[in-house]
Amino acid sequence: MYLVTGATGVIGRPLVQALLSEGAGIRAVTRDADRADFPDGVEPVASEAIRRALRGVHGLFVHPRAAEDDLGKLLRLAAEEGVPKVVVMSAINVDDPFDHQPSRYNGDRNTEVERAVTASPLPWIAVRPSSFAMNTLAMWRGQIASGAVVRGPYGSFAEAVIHERDVAEVLARALMDDGLLGRTISITGPQALRLDEMVPLIGAAIGRPLRFEEVPAEAAAQGMIRNGLDERFVRALMARYRRELERPPTVTAEVETILGRPARTFAAWAGDHAGEWS
Ligand SMILES: NC(=O)c1ccc[n+]([C@@H]2O[C@H](COP(=O)([O-])OP(=O)(O)OC[C@H]3O[C@@H](n4cnc5c(N)ncnc54)[C@H](OP(=O)(O)O)[C@@H]3O)[C@@H](O)[C@H]2O)c1
Repeated sequence: MYLVTGATGVIGRPLVQALLSEGAGIRAVTRDADRADFPDGVEPVASEAIRRALRGVHGLFVHPRAAEDDLGKLLRLAAEEGVPKVVVMSAINVDDPFDHQPSRYNGDRNTEVERAVTASPLPWIAVRPSSFAMNTLAMWRGQIASGAVVRGPYGSFAEAVIHERDVAEVLARALMDDGLLGRTISITGPQALRLDEMVPLIGAAIGRPLRFEEVPAEAAAQGMIRNGLDERFVRALMARYRRELERPPTVTAEVETILGRPARTFAAWAGDHAGEWS
């Protein structure tokens, strides 16, 4: 039996699926059980009922967004209930200075959440994913729905984005096997791709030619702010693009080592999400 926080999210849903496909029992924490629509056999848990839900679990998954507010209490209760393992997800950039972590400006506290888990008395595993391939849906869906050109900054910026199901399957292995205990694991997609290489791959998946057209960074930043993104987030994101253009992108082989098969490519991710661009 496993207790999963953040179970309705981008990573939580495929994690629940991955654990189910291994035959594991799952208790899934959500703030709204009526809307959660979990698969059959998954037991929804409200955060007020967490102590009882921790009883008898073999592993706890700490999602950094969902578990942050009550993390101290959650870890204390897990220790009291004798939970033998905690798996925490953070991000590949958690050791960077705070102003180099753009998502902090949207409220994420990955560094603090990972540190709280690894400093707790519970046996732990920390999994640090690279950027999710899913981000491209949020960034580009509007433009792709209405045309053949994606306009954006820094077309030559490259990174090894990761499929959410690879993140989820690594987390499931971390929960179910003991071989990874005490490890901090950075996971990425199989290869770094430039933004102007990703867009045509989405086009190939949806059967419509697409291309990336670079626009000046300041114009792009102003557009993002006009569209409602937090200005400090946008500035940090642009600074990240500029900084990382200068260095080779990080690519690790951990997904393949842990899962015994290559990490899914961005082309495969685009194929899995081909119906979601309009
Ligand atoms: N996007 C990336 O490229 C990337 C890369 C690496 C790491 N990360 C990190 O991964 C995390 C995001 O993961 P995700 O996309 O799976 O998250 P998500 O889908 O936004 O959220 C997961 C679930 O957490 C619950 N939740 C969200 N906000 C909450 C809040 N304020 N309080 C309590 N519960 C909340 C929601 O469940 P209910 O509504 O059912 O309660 C939600 O479905 C962030 O910490 C991010 O920095 C992101």
